[in-house]
Amino acid sequence: MPEANEKLSPWARFKALPVDSTPKTILVAVSLCLFCSMIVSGAAVMLKPIQEQNKVLDKKRNILQVAGLFEEGADIEEAFKAVEPRLVDVASGKFSDAEDAATYDQRAAAKDPAKSIALDEDPASIGRQAKLASIYLLRDDAGEITKIILPLHGYGLWSTLYGFIALKPDGNEVTGLQFYSHAETPGLGAEVDNPIWRNMWPGKKVFDDAGNVAITVAKGIPSADKAQHHIDALAGATLTSRGVDNLVRFWLGEQGFKRFLENLKAGAA
Ligand SMILES: Cc1cc2nc3c(=O)[nH]c(=O)nc-3n(C[C@H](O)[C@H](O)[C@H](O)COP(=O)(O)O)c2cc1C
Repeated sequence: MPEANEKLSPWARFKALPVDSTPKTILVAVSLCLFCSMIVSGAAVMLKPIQEQNKVLDKKRNILQVAGLFEEGADIEEAFKAVEPRLVDVASGKFSDAEDAATYDQRAAAKDPAKSIALDEDPASIGRQAKLASIYLLRDDAGEITKIILPLHGYGLWSTLYGFIALKPDGNEVTGLQFYSHAETPGLGAEVDNPIWRNMWPGKKVFDDAGNVAITVAKGIPSADKAQHHIDALAGATLTSRGVDNLVRFWLGEQGFKRFLENLKAGAA
């Protein structure tokens, strides 16, 4: 019998092994892993365009929300037609047509050394800043700007928070703030999404009379003259609140949209 077995091919010898033998167990395990990984990677590749599309749609939904134009169940693409996406050259504070505002990806540009600058002074902890920023405008029937929506991002405690701030046409009074992406802790830092906290933002003034950024997210009760610039820090989430304070002040300050807001007000953007 051993002689007969020696004449068999390796495959026939393998087939002759009992089903619970080590080689067969390993083969089944490896085949199963390969099969599953093919299914998972195939699904990931196939779903990628849908995921990208959903990300774009979610961003549009957030812009509509911060603009106060979002209605549950409404067609987002249709509603977004009321929004005018524009590009702003952050350094000059002027509109730019260097790229297509509808398709420009500020997040990708911030990673591209040709399209971004490395920050030495970096209070929002973002490392690099895209030279062009995507902003959004709402206009009335006469073509006058009714709202300015600016993108913001910066580090909280665990993650980079991405969001928008909406301002009145004076470029000073806040009408809303909303984050659409972060990984802060639910119940703590993630309370930035709590409507009660978000409702503290409308009506606050970004700049003081001297034109300096005065808006602050901080603990404690502010003095009467500071109240119009003050948003209470989140209880139990001082570090995320500090991150929001840093990122809002960064993006509305000299390194952010301050020059653009001044130009816009002066009709020179
Ligand atoms: C598991 C865990 C998750 C936390 N997540 C956050 C967070 O997302 N944001 C934050 O500011 N603090 C978070 N903290 C709390 C901070 O460590 C710190 O205590 C807090 O920011 C201080 O805020 P307070 O001075 O208002 O208490 C977390 C703490 C723990 C233990």
